[in-house]
Amino acid sequence: MNEDIPQLPSYDESSLDAAFATLAEEVRGETTSRVDVEAFRLRWLGRKQGRLKLVSDAWLKNAPAEARKPLGMRFNQLKQQIEVALEQAIATPAKPTTKAGIDITLPGSVCVPGIEHPLLKTMNEVVAVFHDLGYSTALGPQVESDFYNFEALNFPPNHPARDTQDTLVVAGQQAKPSRDRLLMRTHTSPVQIRTMIAEAPPIRIVVPGKVHRNDAADATHSPVFHQVEGLCVDTNITFSDLKGTLDHAMKALFGSDVKTRFFPSFFPFTEPSADVQISCIFCGGKGCRKCKHSGWIELLGCGMVDPAVFAAVDEQRVAMGKPTAYDPAKVTGFAFGMGVERIAMILHGVSEIGQFYSGDMRFLEQFA
Ligand code: DAH
Repeated sequence: MNEDIPQLPSYDESSLDAAFATLAEEVRGETTSRVDVEAFRLRWLGRKQGRLKLVSDAWLKNAPAEARKPLGMRFNQLKQQIEVALEQAIATPAKPTTKAGIDITLPGSVCVPGIEHPLLKTMNEVVAVFHDLGYSTALGPQVESDFYNFEALNFPPNHPARDTQDTLVVAGQQAKPSRDRLLMRTHTSPVQIRTMIAEAPPIRIVVPGKVHRNDAADATHSPVFHQVEGLCVDTNITFSDLKGTLDHAMKALFGSDVKTRFFPSFFPFTEPSADVQISCIFCGGKGCRKCKHSGWIELLGCGMVDPAVFAAVDEQRVAMGKPTAYDPAKVTGFAFGMGVERIAMILHGVSEIGQFYSGDMRFLEQFA
């Protein structure tokens, strides 16, 4: 460190002036360039190793007696200078050495807003049509018990009607009574049962949701797909109400030109049951490839709630300590169920169901 200490050639006035001018210059140089104020303070004013202390020790050591006073005065001056410089450095923080600039010629980063997936969009559109009619949304679990998915809906155990809904069952359920065994729900209809057990009529619900079937995937089938279910139960609900409601819903979804027709069908939980067809939206009913030259497209199942369903609901309500509320002599209702994928495919001219699940942005962006 000692070689760092400047030599003082002699103690006469002019040598002292020159030596202290050099030191003052050193201080100025450091305060204009030094970013770290605390390091500057330590370097000059540190009690033991500070430069002021080292230099004054060195210079005072050999100073003749008459030089001690002028030396001391000059060190005091220098010390004041350093302190002023320190205060200024604290008051004006060092500027960053690099300047952050904005290059306005660079391309911007585009933040593309997301959109509803076409299936969700379609599902929401269907649900909205029924909300406008005063229906509310009800939801249920995807892992369902045999009771809600089948038994209460009038599919007795081992009944061949179950074969139409090839079921994915949860493993390890054999020890349970058949009605408690768990499965992946094959339709949204179990939410009808859940709702009626929970609430007395009047009921008007729509049930959007995911369902599962052990079907091989092809152009129009997927083992996981979506349905919207509907249920209306009240006094004096008739088949005309069912027809009017669904005719209105189809017109709201596909356009007011669309006609509907009802064909006899079978579902265990409705009696009578019907399949609903709409006039082909591609050819207006003249017949084309899309409607297999029939002029009609089959779209949904529906019917009047079977009294056996009401009986199963009331039985369960009583078992839970609730009053009966579904006497078929007093209340009637209708139900319907439709596939969301099928509606989305028809609405948007999609011919491969797999496109909806592919995550292919080129496909999805078309719905933005
Ligand atoms: N759950 C039936 C299915 O998945 C569809 C259905 C038909 C629902 C008629 C209904 C109905 O509510 O009344 O095949």
